[in-house]
Amino acid sequence: MSSDLDIQKLRAQTPGLKNTTHLLACGSALMPDCVIDAVVNHIRLEGEIGGYEAHARQHDLLERVYDSVARHIGAKPREIALLENATVAWCHAFYALPLKPGSRILTCEAEYAANYVAFLQRAKRDDLKIEIIPSDASGALDVGVLEGMIDADTGLIAITWVPTNGGLVNPAAKVGKLARAHGIPYLLDACQAVGQMPVDVNELGCDFLSATGRKFLRGPRGTGFLYVRESWLETLEPVMIDLYGASAITVDQYSLRDDARRFETWENAYALRAGLGAAVEYAEAIGIDAIEARISALAGYCRDLLSQQPKIQLRDLGDHKCGIVSFSVEGGDPGAIVAKLGQAGFVIGASGPSSTPVDALRRNLPTMLRIAPHYYNTKTEIEACVLRLSGLI
Ligand SMILES: Cc1ncc(COP(=O)(O)O)c(C=O)c1O
Repeated sequence: MSSDLDIQKLRAQTPGLKNTTHLLACGSALMPDCVIDAVVNHIRLEGEIGGYEAHARQHDLLERVYDSVARHIGAKPREIALLENATVAWCHAFYALPLKPGSRILTCEAEYAANYVAFLQRAKRDDLKIEIIPSDASGALDVGVLEGMIDADTGLIAITWVPTNGGLVNPAAKVGKLARAHGIPYLLDACQAVGQMPVDVNELGCDFLSATGRKFLRGPRGTGFLYVRESWLETLEPVMIDLYGASAITVDQYSLRDDARRFETWENAYALRAGLGAAVEYAEAIGIDAIEARISALAGYCRDLLSQQPKIQLRDLGDHKCGIVSFSVEGGDPGAIVAKLGQAGFVIGASGPSSTPVDALRRNLPTMLRIAPHYYNTKTEIEACVLRLSGLI
């Protein structure tokens, strides 16, 4: 497989590869040395000189994390809030959005369960309607149908770009074009996209975007971020604030910060933030186009091999597929397969129907297995994993 990347060097910078064949970037990818070092260095500094003092000493490096994240997605640093995961980031935007009773939320079949349950909660509480945008013949969100669904009561379009349960890449930028044209707020779950493909909030046309650090970005667990388009910062009131999100507090009033950090609180895991910053800078140094090309080639190779196995059914949707390979095994127990492969040194994962309730119901999906190679994986690793898998089924 030809690649612009120096795979041997990148693998040598990934200590986890010595212990395991890790093929689950959509779960939590392996961190490179520079990320581990950034986290450990900050924690060590906290231990040596004190937490507040370490924060002060690392101030510039920690501020740079906003710049790096913003640059990586084509945003401004003031449009970024650093949070503990993608769900918290997404919820901050969703729950802050004013939606009149009777408003319609348009979402996709592949929507992530955490988002969907929040729709259900607000629908119940605020008298909103949830409507599912149907998929086209390929399984991707049907933009033509979406256009016909938009009306004066449409309060929000909220979709998942790349679902947790497979290789589908929804047409997020085409959705953004429609949202902009009709002036409808657009909230994009980019959790599985960031780190495996180029992300540009202006091309996407989204007002809000949420993502996590630990998946394809290779950051530490417990990191995530929210993008809030600048124009929303004048009006959007977080559902909860503290003395950090509010810039000034008197006995009878407060004013909010004028940037997206109004969604943050005062206390944070700064060591993890340092790791997130290192992860973004590392991805940028490698190059997101080369990353996407290699992930896509490895995932395609994996699909080819799996398609030759008699009892395996590939489950990925869409004409344009990304790095998450989903499949089911006839008569196989997914939990037992994951465990047995784990004992043999291969890390793959499973995704149950409850992670993507609408899609699972529509397609009558069983618990599926997921293999999600990162650019640091090799064809040889994938061959070995599929061979081992074939011996188990
Ligand atoms: C599509 C999608 N959205 C959101 C999330 C939630 O991310 P986090 O666990 O960082 O909150 C996930 C996690 O798997 C996901 O796959």
